[in-house]
Amino acid sequence: MLRRREVMAGAAALPLLGLAGRAGAGTATVLRAAPARVQLAPEGYPETEVWAYNGQLPGPILRHERGHVLQVRLENGLPGQDSTIHWHGLRLPNEMDGVPGLTQAPVPPGEAFDYRFALRDAGTFWYHPHAHSVEQISRGLAGVLVVEERQADRPDVDGDEVLVLDDWRMASDAVIRDDFGAWHDMSHAGRLGNFVTVNAAPEYRRKGRRGERLRLRLVNTATARIFTLRFRGMRVWLAALDGMPLEGPEAVEEVVIAPAQRADLLVDLVAEPGEEALIASVERDGTYALAGFEVTGPGRAARAAPAALPPNDMPMLELGQARAVPLVMEGGAMRGLPEGAVWRGSKMDMRALAEAGQFWAFNGMAGMAEAPLVEAFLGETIRIPMTNRTAFSHAMHLHGMHFREVLDDDRLGPWRDTLLVAPGEVREIAFVAESAGDWMFHCHMPSHQMSGMMNWIRVS
Ligand code: C2O
Ligand code: CU
Repeated sequence: MLRRREVMAGAAALPLLGLAGRAGAGTATVLRAAPARVQLAPEGYPETEVWAYNGQLPGPILRHERGHVLQVRLENGLPGQDSTIHWHGLRLPNEMDGVPGLTQAPVPPGEAFDYRFALRDAGTFWYHPHAHSVEQISRGLAGVLVVEERQADRPDVDGDEVLVLDDWRMASDAVIRDDFGAWHDMSHAGRLGNFVTVNAAPEYRRKGRRGERLRLRLVNTATARIFTLRFRGMRVWLAALDGMPLEGPEAVEEVVIAPAQRADLLVDLVAEPGEEALIASVERDGTYALAGFEVTGPGRAARAAPAALPPNDMPMLELGQARAVPLVMEGGAMRGLPEGAVWRGSKMDMRALAEAGQFWAFNGMAGMAEAPLVEAFLGETIRIPMTNRTAFSHAMHLHGMHFREVLDDDRLGPWRDTLLVAPGEVREIAFVAESAGDWMFHCHMPSHQMSGMMNWIRVS
């Protein structure tokens, strides 16, 4: 019965998306990107100068209901750098996508830009600059946008929490290192930090009664770190990836979140009162607690496994008729670009490319090519088999549209906007070119993105 109502609510809601002005005029939220000082390192260390939205780390959580119109004014208070905001994972009009030089003019210091678009999908999304991305994201510019299901469609939970996973590269005096253009990071695994945080603290802490069910919205805003999470004292279901609900929540024991990815978890606290339920990060030198839930009694009764989140309105993939546009990823340390690559219109050898700070190529092209990787017509299904010939993993992100992985026998994986491709793998994605415009397609490790791994797709 519940399921039926959800479907009907979803269908009835669609015409509303065209109704501009639902949020009313003049209610824009201001996000001011500017330097700020915060206590980021543990007690006893000095404050750190960061770049933040409205002085907050992570940036303010924007919470809106599906169907509302988001209105945000970006004010650029950064010292000497242009900026923009990219709304990561949102299906929105191309001119709101926030890519300087592709979808809008860069916003110079002292100036502002108004973003305004309808929130079509419920889910966990985030926002970040798309200019000088390594530096601006690494200095702290990132925030979460939660689009809530309509009241009647929300899962029955006792809490709904955002957990922003990040890392920072700091010197021992808690100053953020300014080595944003380091060639070693670009040509290896990206700019890994040496200090991991959840919501800008060393550990997330919360109390909860035994048997409580929480929705945890995990967002990886790190520029290079891939988190592998394990759990203790809780039953965990994966309910959505990159904002899009799975067909049904899946019981999981481990969750991997690459840069830019999100995972919505539904967790039941099952530790005994007085004990602690934990989310831990498996790292090279050990396993560290990221989040601790102090469990209290008396417990509440255990519940049945959670139901699926209400689906967003996703397009139909036509795999049979789909055009395949292969993508070959090459370069980086250990493998290099022995054949050279085209950069800014000229073919260059590996040494000249390295001198220009370019270490990677997609289909023999480093950086934004003049012609898009794919020119699709509106409504066309495109398949992109991606071959990773490099020695590193890459988190491939498509703007403006979500894709599904094509698995064996043409089975389809979950809807996503960012897919991690490990060295040696061939992973194929398929998407419907459902929105007109020029959309970026790049590795979401900004050190790789800036040093070659970006391209774009035109839909018209
Ligand atoms: Cu989250 Cu092109 O970006
Ligand atoms: Cu990469």
